[in-house]
Amino acid sequence: MTVFDTPVERRGTDSIKWGKYAGRDILPLWVADMDFAAPPAVLAALHQRVEQSVFGYGHPWPSLEESVLAHLAGEYDWAIEREWIVWLPGLVSGLNIACRAIDGEVLTATPVYPPFLSAPRFSGRALNRVELAEHDGRWQWDMAAMAMATTPATRLFLLCHPHNPVGRCWSREELQALADFAEQRDLVVCSDEIHCGLILDADKRHIPFASLSPAAAQRSITLLAPSKTFNIPGLGCALAVIPDAVLRRRFLRAMDGIVPHVNVLGLAACEAAYRDCADWHGELLTYLAGNRDRVAMAVAGAGRVRMSPVEATYLAWIDVRPLGLSNPAAHFEAHGLGLSDGTDFGAPGWLRLNFGCPRATLDEALRRFTAACQAA
Ligand SMILES: Cc1ncc(COP(=O)(O)O)c(C=O)c1O
Repeated sequence: MTVFDTPVERRGTDSIKWGKYAGRDILPLWVADMDFAAPPAVLAALHQRVEQSVFGYGHPWPSLEESVLAHLAGEYDWAIEREWIVWLPGLVSGLNIACRAIDGEVLTATPVYPPFLSAPRFSGRALNRVELAEHDGRWQWDMAAMAMATTPATRLFLLCHPHNPVGRCWSREELQALADFAEQRDLVVCSDEIHCGLILDADKRHIPFASLSPAAAQRSITLLAPSKTFNIPGLGCALAVIPDAVLRRRFLRAMDGIVPHVNVLGLAACEAAYRDCADWHGELLTYLAGNRDRVAMAVAGAGRVRMSPVEATYLAWIDVRPLGLSNPAAHFEAHGLGLSDGTDFGAPGWLRLNFGCPRATLDEALRRFTAACQAA
């Protein structure tokens, strides 16, 4: 038994994940938060901040910035300067700000986290999509298709790194090919790295796009947060790292009058998460890798459905098209399992399963998954 096996009752709370199916016997394995308590060091930092009893407007403080810098240097060998940081209340805000800030068409690779598809539209930008290619059970960028989908007006590539929902931890070679492409086409790369702390394969490492080279850094906007890794997305604290001063000013101008300060509890949690939770984080990765293996085994055993290996994130991307269902998400709900509908990610016939939950919950969910497949 580990701390991650301890059930936390989320029914009847403010949880969006659990509230969706209130009063129904449907296990929610959809939206991307985990059913785990936050790390003890984060809880202690929050208690300490609450003890101060005053919650006036706050700004980021030096030890918080130190914590971010040390975390990025230690985990990813990425040295940044504190003035490159722009604090944000969330990454979705960051994606939308990037689309507003960069004048031109947007390119992204699908299937992808739905706000990648809506953010260009919200900013009046045309979106060009290119399908990821699945070769030998591995999702990849199709660079030829990317070239075809790029027009002279394309100015921004929205990168999901690691990629939600396909679970790829992009390699240095792949990232360098993308950086070369961005250089040739003069694209800004907005790299959403919210899942970077969730690399499940011991032989893989997250490489920030901006850390590839000074040239890549100059055309990058990197979006980061402790929210997924340390399971604190409800605290609304994220940051953009933008090395180029001109690009940073454009980004800041697009935020003017719309984007609020980050709340002080989110900032306090961020400092502790990045500095004081290494042991908790290591145990989490071991636990999630075990869950990932259980999901892979269940999907392989269910017949007809399939998935590629999940290298990163706590999300499995499952092809249920062979079941021939007209509404796969509704079919699985009818068998007691709430999954994300691939249609929202640009891929009807696929489902996304969130395995960030205690093993007892997961095992019951996988039992229901198998039953739903057999009933189809
Ligand atoms: C790739 C990606 N970006 C952003 C988000 C959400 O970010 P935020 O809650 O900070 O807006 C998620 C949540 O699942 C995600 O998977």
